[in-house]
Amino acid sequence: MGKKEIVRRSFASIAGSYDVLNTLLSFCADKWWRREAIQALGPSDKELLLDACAGTMLLGKGFVRRWADAKAVALDFSLEMLEKGMEKAKNSSVIPVCGDAERMPFRDETFDKVIVGFGIRNLADPQRGIEELFRVLKRGGRVVILEFGRPSLPVFKDLYRWYLSLVVDRLGGIISHQKETYRYFYHSVMAFPEREEVVVMMKIAGFSQIRGREMTLGITDLCIAQKAP
Ligand SMILES: C[S@@+](CC[C@H](N)C(=O)[O-])C[C@H]1O[C@@H](n2cnc3c(N)ncnc32)[C@H](O)[C@@H]1O
Repeated sequence: MGKKEIVRRSFASIAGSYDVLNTLLSFCADKWWRREAIQALGPSDKELLLDACAGTMLLGKGFVRRWADAKAVALDFSLEMLEKGMEKAKNSSVIPVCGDAERMPFRDETFDKVIVGFGIRNLADPQRGIEELFRVLKRGGRVVILEFGRPSLPVFKDLYRWYLSLVVDRLGGIISHQKETYRYFYHSVMAFPEREEVVVMMKIAGFSQIRGREMTLGITDLCIAQKAP
């Protein structure tokens, strides 16, 4: 089984507990990280956002709450994650689409803004996914990528590693009844390229004015960039 199928099945299996575990294991910091990511999109009234690798659509929903006249499309290849998100989003301006972020079912230059939260790390081919973000974004549009980083502060980095490998791995496994998925989570964070490498991928895709920002001592990173007009 390739990475894509493993990831799809993993998220399908934890869809029911995903939101709760996210908040619990991050001590509620996930809510702040997503709020900052939405804020980083800049003024977006009446705009159309793509929330790629949307999962339970938390970013898309946060975006339309922030901008009442805006709309969002939430793309994910796990129907189970989208369905879970839909339970709490009846009549909202977020449209779920089940599809592959590496081969998006959208025309070139469809969206005013694009955002990906904790999704790039999970792609089988992150470069291809970033190129798709660039393709579907309108000229002059902005992309925001929110992803886990690896803290570099002495002591804190070791504590964080310990927390991920022992607490998140075990507690996540016990609560979700999916040990393998939370083991995958630890390895995927540790194996994912540093922010500098993501910046290189974004440059290769064609993005400009790329800037980054660490949050919570480097536990998460925000990368913000433009598609030139
Ligand atoms: C860690 S979750 C992030 C969900 C959400 N963005 C958030 O902020 O919580 C990663 C999501 O990426 C999705 N995903 C991974 N690879 C994908 C792909 N190739 N196409 C579409 N979705 C993908 C998974 O199904 C999962 O729902």
